[in-house]
Amino acid sequence: MKQDRTTGGMKVLITGGAGFIGSNFVRHILVAHASWEVVNLDKLTYAGNLANLKDVEQDPRYSFIEGDIADGDIVGRLMARGVDVVVNFAAESHVDRSIEDPSPFIDTNVRGTQVLLESVRKHHVTRFVQVSTDEVYGTLGQEGKFSEDSPLAPNSPYAASKAAADLLCRSYFHTYGLPVMVTRCSNNYGPHQYPEKLIPLVVTNAMEGKPIPVYGKGLNVRDWIFVEEHCRAIDAIIAQGRPGETYNIGADCERANIEIVYAILDIMGKPRSLVQFVSDRPGHDWRYALDTIKLNREIGWQPVYSLNAHLERTVRWYMDNEEWWRPLKSVDYYEYYERTYGRRRCQKTG
Ligand code: NAD
Ligand code: TYD
Repeated sequence: MKQDRTTGGMKVLITGGAGFIGSNFVRHILVAHASWEVVNLDKLTYAGNLANLKDVEQDPRYSFIEGDIADGDIVGRLMARGVDVVVNFAAESHVDRSIEDPSPFIDTNVRGTQVLLESVRKHHVTRFVQVSTDEVYGTLGQEGKFSEDSPLAPNSPYAASKAAADLLCRSYFHTYGLPVMVTRCSNNYGPHQYPEKLIPLVVTNAMEGKPIPVYGKGLNVRDWIFVEEHCRAIDAIIAQGRPGETYNIGADCERANIEIVYAILDIMGKPRSLVQFVSDRPGHDWRYALDTIKLNREIGWQPVYSLNAHLERTVRWYMDNEEWWRPLKSVDYYEYYERTYGRRRCQKTG
C-alpha cells in the first residue's frame, strides 16, 4: 500500500468517529501510527458525542468536520484535499430504533455509503474499509458459525441497510475496481457505547436502581468482542487486507444475554431482581457466532483479551464516568425508553 505524501504518513478519513467504535478507532490510530493524520467526519446524531474525543481534540494530527456522509459536496471537498484511506463507521446502529423507523437507516447506511463510494471513485484513495456487522448474515440455530461465504439474510431494517451497503461496496469493487474491503464484526463492548445498547444500559440502569429490560427469556446469544480488539483488527486489515475481500472479526465469545446481564450485576454487587423480562424484540435474531479463520489465516490476527477481565473493566468505566452517560440518558433516552419499553413492560412475559 502506498505510504503517503511528504510526511511518510497517511491521511485517514474516519466517518462516524464521534460514535462508540469510531472514537475508539480514532484514538487507536493516533496512538498506533505516529505519522498518520486523522480527519473525523461525523453528523453528530444523538449517538455522536465529541466528549468521546476530549483527550485527542488538541492533537495536531486530528481534525473534526461536522457533516453528513450522504452530503456529496462535503464529502467531495474532503476527498479533494487528499485522503489515502477511508474507514466508514458512520451509521444508524441500533436495531430497536430501526424497528421504530427504518428511514434514517436507509439514508445514512445505504445512501451515505454510496455517496462515499462515488466520491472515492473520483479521487485517488488506496483503501476503503466498510465497517459492517455479523447481523447481515441473519440468525443461527444452536449449531454452526457464519463464515464470509454464508448467505446474506438480514432480519432487521438495520441489518438490511448494512447488507445493502456491503453489496454496494462489492459492486464498486467489481464494476469500478475500487479498493474496497468489508469487515463484519460481532457485538462490541467497551467505553463510550451509547447507553441504549445492552451492556451500558444494564450498568447505567442498575446504577439508577431502574429495571433492566431483558427481551424474551434472555436466552438469545451474542458473540462479544472488546472494542479495542475490533479497532486493532481493522488496522491490520488496512495494512494487509486484499481489496474486494470481506473479513469476519470476532473473539469467539458467545454468551446468552441473561448470562451477560447477571455477570454485570454480580460485578456491581446489584440484585438480580432488577431484571425485568419483557416481550421479545420483533424479528429478534436468536444467535450470532462468527468463524474468523480467514482473518487469522490471511492477516495473522487473533483476539487477546478475555471477556471476564474486559467486561469488568467496561463496567467500572461506566461506574466511574457517570458525567459521560448521565446527560445522554436525560436528553434523549428516557423519551425513547418510555416509548419502547413502556409499551413492552405492559406485555410482560415473566
Ligand atoms: P454509534 O451509533 O455509536 O456511532 C455512529 C456514529 O455515526 C455517530 O457518531 C453518529 O453521529 C455518526 N453518524 C450517523 N449518521 C451519520 C451520517 N449520516 N453522517 C456522518 N456521521 C453519521 O455506532 P457504533 O456502535 O460505534 O458502530 C459504528 C459502526 O460499526 C457502524 O457502522 C455499525 O454498523 C458497525 N458495527 C457496530 C457493532 C456494535 O456492536 N456496536 C458491531 C459490528 C459493526
Ligand atoms: P443490542 O445491544 O441492542 O445489540 P444487537 O441487537 O445489535 O445485538 O442487544 C444485544 C442483545 O441484548 C440482543 O439480543 C437484544 C438484547 N437486549 C435486551 O434483552 N434488552 C435490552 O434492553 C437491549 C437494548 C437489548
